[in-house]
Amino acid sequence: MSQPTIDSRALRDALSSFATGVTIVTTADHSGEPVGMTASSFNSVSMDPPLILWSVTKTALSAPVFHKAQHFSVHVLAANQMALSNRFARSGEDKFNGIDFQLDANGVPQLAGVLTRFDCNTWSVYEGGDHWIIVGEVKNMETQKGEGLVFSGGSYATAASIQPPNPDNPNDDGPIEELLIYNLARAYVQVSRRFHASVEESGLSIPEWRTLASLHGGKSRTVPELVARTFVSPKKMNHLLTQMKQSGWLTVEDRDGAQIVTGSPKGQSQVEHLFELCAQQEAEALGASGKSGQDRLIGLLRQVIENTNE
Ligand SMILES: Cc1cc2nc3c(=O)[nH]c(=O)nc-3n(C[C@H](O)[C@H](O)[C@H](O)COP(=O)(O)O)c2cc1C
Repeated sequence: MSQPTIDSRALRDALSSFATGVTIVTTADHSGEPVGMTASSFNSVSMDPPLILWSVTKTALSAPVFHKAQHFSVHVLAANQMALSNRFARSGEDKFNGIDFQLDANGVPQLAGVLTRFDCNTWSVYEGGDHWIIVGEVKNMETQKGEGLVFSGGSYATAASIQPPNPDNPNDDGPIEELLIYNLARAYVQVSRRFHASVEESGLSIPEWRTLASLHGGKSRTVPELVARTFVSPKKMNHLLTQMKQSGWLTVEDRDGAQIVTGSPKGQSQVEHLFELCAQQEAEALGASGKSGQDRLIGLLRQVIENTNE
């Protein structure tokens, strides 16, 4: 009977469907030099005794050091530490030069700014094919709340938590909750209600704000581009542009038969404070999701806009 063969490339690709966190494991070599490498093979093993494991490829320059080391620390990286992960994934470079760390009593480097650090004594090292499986006993740990860096499908990612349906929530009214269109509409109405009140308080109409915001920074746009960004009909747009031109908020020139609209400094000054206010109100609306949640949401919405652009 012939043995089924597994292609390494295909195996690597299949394994990459299993999303993991990202860690940097550090130790010191025999002369006390700091050593470290990025590893996503970290996992929990036992609660009592408290054991964790990770595996190091035998070809890594630091493999012999980890194989012998009696102490090591595993650092779970935060969502904003992609550059640090890349630095420690480059073989043999002076990875510690210029980064923030301190040595513990065993001379093991402890990196600053990580989500969690596990300080371990080496419990056992097993041979696992072309890797060493290193099991550590956790002797000390430090952890803080925050979003972790994720590695999935060969790329870095951040984890978005899924809100479970809440049976006690009276607004939770069935399958409509699952519809993108419903959630987009509701979020839009709720977020814009407050901001649009601020726009009107500042003396601008919503179409004027949208036009000036689209021309912010002295940008030039064609009339159809403005129509797409302001949701004003082409007929009304011409009327609106005439009025705004009279106010000195923009200029309109004819270029090869197309009308090109450009924002003026006076127009920009009308909306400067509204941009700040908008950012403030958006941050409040996003709550704990913060800047990374905002980037993720905007990225998804841009995809939706692109996929549905006619
Ligand atoms: C996200 C990510 C996860 C990694 N996980 C591991 C791992 O679990 N084990 C491993 O041996 N190498 C892993 N690597 C590769 C090592 O970090 C890389 O081979 C490093 O250059 C080794 O450094 P050294 O040769 O200086 O020891 C990973 C790389 C990345 C980018």
